[in-house]
Amino acid sequence: MKKVRIGIAGLGRLGKSHAANLAFKVKNADLVAACSVVPEELDWARENLGLDSLFDSLEDMLRHAQLDAVFLVTPTTLHPQQIIDALQAGLHVFCEKPLALTIEDCERVMAVRDEHPGQVATIGFVRRYDPEYAYAKRKIEEGAIGRPILFRGQTADMDNTAAFQVQFSRTSGGVFLDASIHDMDLARWLLGAEVQEVYCVGDCYVHEGFREYRDADNATALYRFDNGAAASITVSRTTMHGHDTFAEVTGTRGSLLIGRPNRVANVDICDEQGVRIECVPTFYERFEKAFLLEAEDFVNCALRGGEPRCDLRDAVQATRVAIATTEAYRSGKVVVV
Ligand SMILES: NC(=O)c1ccc[n+]([C@@H]2O[C@H](COP(=O)([O-])OP(=O)(O)OC[C@H]3O[C@@H](n4cnc5c(N)ncnc54)[C@H](O)[C@@H]3O)[C@@H](O)[C@H]2O)c1
Repeated sequence: MKKVRIGIAGLGRLGKSHAANLAFKVKNADLVAACSVVPEELDWARENLGLDSLFDSLEDMLRHAQLDAVFLVTPTTLHPQQIIDALQAGLHVFCEKPLALTIEDCERVMAVRDEHPGQVATIGFVRRYDPEYAYAKRKIEEGAIGRPILFRGQTADMDNTAAFQVQFSRTSGGVFLDASIHDMDLARWLLGAEVQEVYCVGDCYVHEGFREYRDADNATALYRFDNGAAASITVSRTTMHGHDTFAEVTGTRGSLLIGRPNRVANVDICDEQGVRIECVPTFYERFEKAFLLEAEDFVNCALRGGEPRCDLRDAVQATRVAIATTEAYRSGKVVVV
């Protein structure tokens, strides 16, 4: 079978993992090129992936590598224009979340996307591919909990990543666009409804560095949906025990608790401190399998013409909710989406 020739842009914290998946694990993917503005990352790709088609700009990669598709794993501020450039070059596009930091940029991307309906274009809302969240989605569709009415979600990163996150705030758009946006996407997906309004409380309780970006290290937001359902979404950058991400969906006839606790192994440690478990340290260990399934689906869609689990319209909606949540946090007021 024909393979999909892929070029990856961005070989940083997440890009290296995507690149290794595409090079060694994803069936029918042929990773043929990479670009990064960091020369050491290109050396890494040469040594570890055996790539020799390496570029210091996306523009050059699009012009010189013979590609069918791109993976964009670059700073969020670059996503909108890079998606547009790749679509206009005739390529299938996978881009990491979020789609953009402004609604204007979302609309710019959608206008170009609509001119290229035959190409696959998706944003990396990886949790839709996590076997546990996907199982919960199936259960809801089968009616196992009746009508879903409440979503409670949490994304929590370890305190030891906070110094990195403060720097990352320069381009990430802040904790709601960077982290909680996963829960916002899940809430829409699992409740089957759209957010109408949001109220949010939080602060820089531990790390003052976030204040410069009007960002938070811990916050909780409350959402009302257009079908009367509700959600509460908590985000933290200061956990001591691990990456503690989970969700709960309550329906009229039952509830689903998804992904908690995030165990390293199904083993209880019994010692002088009592009975305890070890939690996964970062998002990557938690969603490693989902990152692979997400890439496999993208490649299959590019080959066979299917639809990935998240289209750009979903990504625009999640971005709208994340922008409104940021505004609600900063203003202390209820914001209508
Ligand atoms: N799905 C998830 O759970 C998840 C997790 C982490 C990061 N992300 C997203 O992935 C993206 C990248 O995050 P990261 O943590 O890997 O960032 P990073 O800063 O570690 O890496 C960014 C990469 O982009 C490259 N780059 C910068 N400017 C470039 C340009 N003009 N052209 C080409 N390459 C360029 C850099 O060389 C680097 O390789 C972000 O949008 C982030 O939101 C998603």
